[in-house]
Amino acid sequence: MIRQANHSDMNEIARIHKQQFNDHFLGRYSVRMIQKFYESYLDSCIFLVSVSDEVINGFVMGGRYVNLNKSKEKFIHDNKLHYIIETIFRPYIYLQAFRRLRLIKPDPASVSETDANLISLLSISVSENAKGTGVASELINEFEKQVGLESDAYSLSVKKTNNRAIQFYYRKGFVIEVEKESSIFMTKTLHF
Ligand SMILES: CC(C)(COP(=O)(O)OP(=O)(O)OC[C@H]1O[C@@H](n2cnc3c(N)ncnc32)[C@H](O)[C@@H]1OP(=O)(O)O)[C@@H](O)C(=O)NCCC(=O)NCCS
Repeated sequence: MIRQANHSDMNEIARIHKQQFNDHFLGRYSVRMIQKFYESYLDSCIFLVSVSDEVINGFVMGGRYVNLNKSKEKFIHDNKLHYIIETIFRPYIYLQAFRRLRLIKPDPASVSETDANLISLLSISVSENAKGTGVASELINEFEKQVGLESDAYSLSVKKTNNRAIQFYYRKGFVIEVEKESSIFMTKTLHF
């Protein structure tokens, strides 16, 4: 069953994230920190979970650029000290953490009104035993129903090394828009 995410889901979502994104930036932090990250997005985004036998086995989250950015700022603002302390104990992410802090407040003038309203899928993951079962596909289908109420397209970014996700996105109808050094920017046009 796919339903809206709520506060009590956040710990399980953080655990899935920690397990599935351990080679990504946020995945290096504690489950508690990851939970705080997702909580910041809860009220401003499309945020769905898949539940089977009362256990969460996947989630998808995304929304308008302008809302995602506000949530990210809120997360940093509310958790600055916690973020700094956890980062100090992880020297291998110093550079990435520093870059992210600098990027956190883009010049508002550099984001056009059109770009601010573009919809992105920020995060999708299923638990290990839900991979290859169609759960991810169901999450995307439901996410698209909600995106479709506001827009006829949305985008996402994926690491070039994440073959499984890239194959999945191709199958779901995404096309490559831009290739960068280590990531690919993909978009999908919705036909209802
Ligand atoms: C990305 C993700 C949501 C896709 O869900 P999934 O259930 O694994 O996807 P599927 O198994 O339906 O499809 C994956 C495709 O990858 C390929 N694939 C399957 N197993 C694979 C493996 N072990 N390694 C590489 N590719 C594989 C296949 O081409 C498959 O398509 P097919 O079924 O038509 O053959 C899921 O793998 C996941 O949660 N990954 C960890 C988090 C993540 O990377 N999220 C995306 C960040 S951008």
